[in-house]
Amino acid sequence: DGELCLSRSLVNSSDKIIRKGGSSIFQHSVEGWKINSSLVLEIRKNILRFLDAERDVSVVKSSFKPGDVIHYVLDRRRTLNISQDLHSLLPEVSPMKNRRFKTCAVVGNSGILLDSECGKEIDSHNFVIRCNLAPVVEFAADVGTKSDFITMNPSVVQRAFGGFRNESDREKFVHRLSMLNDSVLWIPAFMVKGGEKHVEWVNALILKNKLKVRTAYPSLRLIHAVRGYWLTNKVPIKRPSTGLLMYTLATRFCDEIHLYGFWPFPKDLNGKAVKYHYYDDLKYRYFSNASPHRMPLEFKTLNVLHNRGALKLTTGKCI
Ligand code: CTP
Repeated sequence: DGELCLSRSLVNSSDKIIRKGGSSIFQHSVEGWKINSSLVLEIRKNILRFLDAERDVSVVKSSFKPGDVIHYVLDRRRTLNISQDLHSLLPEVSPMKNRRFKTCAVVGNSGILLDSECGKEIDSHNFVIRCNLAPVVEFAADVGTKSDFITMNPSVVQRAFGGFRNESDREKFVHRLSMLNDSVLWIPAFMVKGGEKHVEWVNALILKNKLKVRTAYPSLRLIHAVRGYWLTNKVPIKRPSTGLLMYTLATRFCDEIHLYGFWPFPKDLNGKAVKYHYYDDLKYRYFSNASPHRMPLEFKTLNVLHNRGALKLTTGKCI
């Protein structure tokens, strides 16, 4: 039925498996990589059967009124009230409406970016997507600074901005957002209970400081649709990571997608240690069985797509 069957290609002998330290790592080469435009179109078409990124990237103002009660997407028993502030920050129309780009970068947060010198290359793409408000200035040579679209899980407030406990945390946050100008700030506010206070504080700071950033809040169906697409292609991912969500959305807008900072393994191909994040000391606790993510499986899949020319995965140096 024209569906791209990834499961078959996962056991393709052209995907060289290197065994190092007990973990299998899929090798890929950037030399000689060429875009496969017909495959790109096929993937876009297939993903469109599950979601329309233009629409699902954010709910819009007309979807709700202040005071509406919604159920969390991954925790249906719990509910959330659409506050006045949240409602006022919902976009009137999709922030991605009619936006098309020749090349896009999706930048993951792996420590593999350190010493990559990929900054210039990343910034040269027409549209740059980043995850979880990752810092850029101090790492510009390796990660670049351009951010047209940046995600922010509510947990970032706690993890990177001290839970806004004191004024300097809030100032640091406002400063980070002001650097984004009018890029899209994508906040998955409706996924699970727990972050609602943080989302409210973020919204209040954006309004109080009249920040230009364009807020977006993913639709209630996005995650199920993305999961459905990958599941149909025999990639059973319960909770797609932010990076995979971004790639999936980007297929709608970008003709050529380049991924950087995707490397969910504690060692590189030479056995050298790789930090989980390029900018903090978070550990690889995500790979326990309790983890909601299956990043190594996601990586394998992205690697197959790289080898077929559907996307370009860079995990080495850029020069
Ligand atoms: N990533 C990766 N390898 C790593 C770290 C991150 O491939 N060592 C990719 C993943 O696709 C991840 C994205 O980069 O989703 C952004 O990283 P992070 O902010 O850690 O991702 P989240 O998925 O949001 O993680 P969490 O749900 O734990 O917040």
